[in-house]
Amino acid sequence: MARAEALGEDLASENRLLRRIIEVTSSDLDVREASGRVAALVTEATGSDVCFVHVVEEDRGRVVLAGATPPFDELAGTVELAIGEGVAGWVAQHAEPAVVPDKWNDDRYRYIPALRGEDYVSLVSVPMLAHGRVVGVLNVHSKQQRSYGERDLALLTQVANLLARTIEKARLYNRLAEREEMLEAFAARTVEAQELERRRLSGEIHDGIGQRLVSLWYHLLAAEDAAGADETLRRELAVAKELATAALQETRSAITGLRPSVLDDLGLAAGLESLGRSIPGLEVELDVDVSAERLPAHVEVALYRIAQEALQNVVKHASASKVRIALHVVDGTTRLTVDDDGRGFAQHRLASAEERHSYGIVGMQERAELIGATLTVVSSTGEGTRVEVVVPGTR
Ligand SMILES: Nc1ncnc2c1ncn2[C@@H]1O[C@H](COP(=O)(O)OP(=O)(O)OP(=O)(O)O)[C@@H](O)[C@H]1O
Ligand SMILES: [Mg+2]
Repeated sequence: MARAEALGEDLASENRLLRRIIEVTSSDLDVREASGRVAALVTEATGSDVCFVHVVEEDRGRVVLAGATPPFDELAGTVELAIGEGVAGWVAQHAEPAVVPDKWNDDRYRYIPALRGEDYVSLVSVPMLAHGRVVGVLNVHSKQQRSYGERDLALLTQVANLLARTIEKARLYNRLAEREEMLEAFAARTVEAQELERRRLSGEIHDGIGQRLVSLWYHLLAAEDAAGADETLRRELAVAKELATAALQETRSAITGLRPSVLDDLGLAAGLESLGRSIPGLEVELDVDVSAERLPAHVEVALYRIAQEALQNVVKHASASKVRIALHVVDGTTRLTVDDDGRGFAQHRLASAEERHSYGIVGMQERAELIGATLTVVSSTGEGTRVEVVVPGTR
């Protein structure tokens, strides 16, 4: 009867332990903190003196201390073994537990001064398994010599596998965060490369065609002087001069379009304002949050280019009388809209836009995707058109 009661009590305390371990491992703690808490619970529950949680770093072939009962928790991240080295390394390599009643008589044991190996005699070491892979090793030591039995082993195995999930989760999360960072860097590089190319082009137009048009214009002036009283010649030269002037103006506006230096200097809000001012014959309403914090450069460039294309579409297709450009940042989310009151278009026509070799809207979509934003174009015949980009807040 007494034995059965003791067993019942043991079971109850095991359940309590497992419940608390589940609480710890399913909370949002990082690996180090969760390991520390689990180590404390395990030490107490198994009547041991110290517990170490090691994490396997497969790519480096190492087993690294991730958490422990104090004071060893301070050493997290600083103590490591090769996979195969020491008892923890052996367990990581073989994916099976090791019960070591007297470590001084076990070849696998490796003395680590920082972990005060001389203070402890017995230990048990179990692998932490997630999806069949060893992601870590749980070690429990005691000062007194003892032999850890089947029940200890069964309990520790359950604890180890619960903690394995936390480690796996943290690893996936880190990998995801890394990938996201890479993606962001890629977007920034791509936008930068596009802008560099545009700058190169604008420089070439300026120094090439631009300069030649200027000298053409001077030659036309000189020819006018030399034309004397020849009216026909003078009229032809006047037309030629007008054409040269128009070409020069177009070149200048192409250069400005290619290189929005206002963005570098004053930011997106100012960039949008200057875009708005550059549209002839259209009432432009600007509702731009000038206090908006500067966004990352590649995001500003992408939004500017999207607004530029949207406005070009208004000028080219909408026959609108009014266009509204709005930029707002609310709770970290940036929203840019370009609205016109023009003729609009039936959106099913967009499906064939690629075949018709029109890249404006496709390009806007691509730019938005690159910076992790979503772009929507809403239009129907006679109802005007609205282009909206939403950039979710950065973490
Ligand atoms: N604001 C708008 N008002 C009316 N129609 C529009 C508007 N924006 C786009 N469209 C219609 O959608 C079509 C696709 O636009 P998109 O910008 O992709 O191509 P595009 O302007 O014709 O050519 P590209 O931009 O490649 O020079 C346009 O041809 C036009 O019919
Ligand atoms: Mg277009």
